[in-house]
Amino acid sequence: MFVIILNVFLCIPRVYSVWACVRSCPASCVCTQERSCSILCDRAGLTQIPSEFPCEAYSINLDKNSIRFLAERAFGTLPSLRTLSLSHNNISFITPGAFKGLASLAELRMAHNEYIRYLHTRTFTSLKRLVRLDLADCNLFNIPDRIFIELPSLRELFCFQNNFRRIPGAIRGMENLTHVYLEKNRIEAIAYNSLLGLTRLKYLNLQDNRINVIHDRSFQDCKKMEYLYLNDNFITELPENSFDGLLRLKMLNLGGNSLRNVSNTWFRDQFELEVLYLDRNRISYIEEGAFENLTSLVSLHLNSNNLTTLPFSVFQPVYFLGRLYLFRNPWECDCRIEWLKEWMENYRLVRDIPCASPSSVAGLDLTDVVFERTLDGFCLDPEELNLTTYSPFPTGEPQSTTENRFNSLISKFLLQKGLSEEVVNTTESFINTTLFDGLSNQAPFGLRESNIKLLCSFNLWLFITSQAVAVK
Ligand SMILES: *[C@@H]1O[C@H](CO)[C@@H](O)[C@H](O)[C@H]1NC(C)=O
Ligand SMILES: *[C@@H]1O[C@H](CO)[C@@H](O)[C@H](O)[C@H]1NC(C)=O
Ligand SMILES: *[C@@H]1O[C@H](CO)[C@@H](O)[C@H](O)[C@H]1NC(C)=O
Ligand SMILES: *[C@@H]1O[C@H](CO)[C@@H](O)[C@H](O)[C@H]1NC(C)=O
Ligand SMILES: *[C@@H]1O[C@H](CO)[C@@H](O)[C@H](O)[C@H]1NC(C)=O
Ligand SMILES: *[C@@H]1O[C@H](CO)[C@@H](O)[C@H](O)[C@H]1NC(C)=O
Ligand SMILES: *[C@@H]1O[C@H](CO)[C@@H](O)[C@H](O)[C@H]1NC(C)=O
Ligand SMILES: *[C@@H]1O[C@H](CO)[C@@H](O)[C@H](O)[C@H]1NC(C)=O
Repeated sequence: MFVIILNVFLCIPRVYSVWACVRSCPASCVCTQERSCSILCDRAGLTQIPSEFPCEAYSINLDKNSIRFLAERAFGTLPSLRTLSLSHNNISFITPGAFKGLASLAELRMAHNEYIRYLHTRTFTSLKRLVRLDLADCNLFNIPDRIFIELPSLRELFCFQNNFRRIPGAIRGMENLTHVYLEKNRIEAIAYNSLLGLTRLKYLNLQDNRINVIHDRSFQDCKKMEYLYLNDNFITELPENSFDGLLRLKMLNLGGNSLRNVSNTWFRDQFELEVLYLDRNRISYIEEGAFENLTSLVSLHLNSNNLTTLPFSVFQPVYFLGRLYLFRNPWECDCRIEWLKEWMENYRLVRDIPCASPSSVAGLDLTDVVFERTLDGFCLDPEELNLTTYSPFPTGEPQSTTENRFNSLISKFLLQKGLSEEVVNTTESFINTTLFDGLSNQAPFGLRESNIKLLCSFNLWLFITSQAVAVK
């Protein structure tokens, strides 16, 4: 009690506090003389917490030392301390009550202490004002269910890059949490009760885990959720009502999973969804109306899937969409997706639809496919050429017709501004096919786009060459 009174007394006059901050600065630390008292002890080779800090300390940085142990009340009584950083040390044991005496602490950073592994239930006791806690990369396998019970102000929890196999029960019912970072763990499931009571949660990151089970209605309490990352997991199926009630969702990332079908029950309530990632799955089928209620959608990522066709009805009624990513799918460029070509021409919102079949257009981009018409205006599918034989043209068909058609393709190809030059200049790099395969999804769009275009051009060029040989 006496200590607290003394501290309050000492800390009130501003002028003296600046002076006091510098005067009582621990050896091997630097203390600022600015308005708030910041104590910088990072990279100082410390193996222990300095025994005393200026009582008006506002922030303490002890990053990148070799501290191994935190005793009870390790920092004494520092009533003004708001941020404390202990990242990149070698802490292996934290005595319960280590942070007692830090009544104003709002931010505690302890990331990258890979020997922590285990935390006692009363580790964070008395941190009633703690808003942000960083425990990333601490080799944690679990944390006690009641560890946050005395942290009523906690809003942001960083626990990525640990070894959790389930969503920590400790977050259940934490109605004030807004941001939870759990990426790069080994979480296997999202159970119906994992996220109960998280009524203010806006941001949840579960990317890069091993999630293969998502229970019915497991997100039902998270009605304020805006950003949900479920990408790069092992999800093969989603319950039909997974995202029901998530009316505020703006971004949903389901990329890098093993989904095969997109159900029209998944996105019923996402009227505010702006960005939807479904890339890098095995999607070959999208149910009619699946995107019907996504009236705010700006960008839809369907690239790197197993789609051969995309019925117009999938997008009905047509809402404005800023970008539609469809590259790296085995597109069958027949009359069923002629509408998409028209869309591309009219709205310029679709990029790169390299055709895998029919063989007469394989390697072309859908934009470059010419759909022929019957006299009464019906669309005719591009032909399936028989490339397995040396006879380049299907028997029975007049050679000249195909040849003309072929020539027109070549001229269309060559007429495209700059393309022939690009092919000559880049042929070499495409000998190395890993260049294309290795392009990451994070690559800037421009780069990816131009590479894909080039690759398609190159395929066509090969195709033309082989045809020319065959004709001879
Ligand atoms: C860190 O702590 C662990 C166990 O407490 C110890 O084995 C290791 O040598 C320490 N590493 C350094 C760099 O001090
Ligand atoms: C959330 O914050 C309010 C106001 O700060 C507090 O009264 C309440 O106890 C907190 N809830 C939890 C579960 O800590
Ligand atoms: C996907 O849709 C197809 C076509 O409707 C259906 O035959 C198949 O069973 C569905 N697969 C799954 C996993 O729902
Ligand atoms: C779209 O939302 C309306 C109104 O909430 C709902 O009745 C309808 O079933 C939804 N459509 C789909 C395809 O889920
Ligand atoms: C893609 O779909 C075809 C049938 O539509 C199927 O045979 C093939 O296995 C699928 N590929 C993948 C990677 O799922
Ligand atoms: C392609 O040619 C081979 C060999 O002549 C023949 O057996 C096959 O049926 C042909 N395929 C088509 C689709 O015409
Ligand atoms: C292609 O190479 C020629 C000569 O080698 C050069 O003049 C031209 O600028 C190059 N084009 C591109 C797109 O790099
Ligand atoms: C192909 O790529 C590999 C790895 O990126 C590289 O080491 C090799 O030199 C490349 N070969 C050519 C011909 O560019």
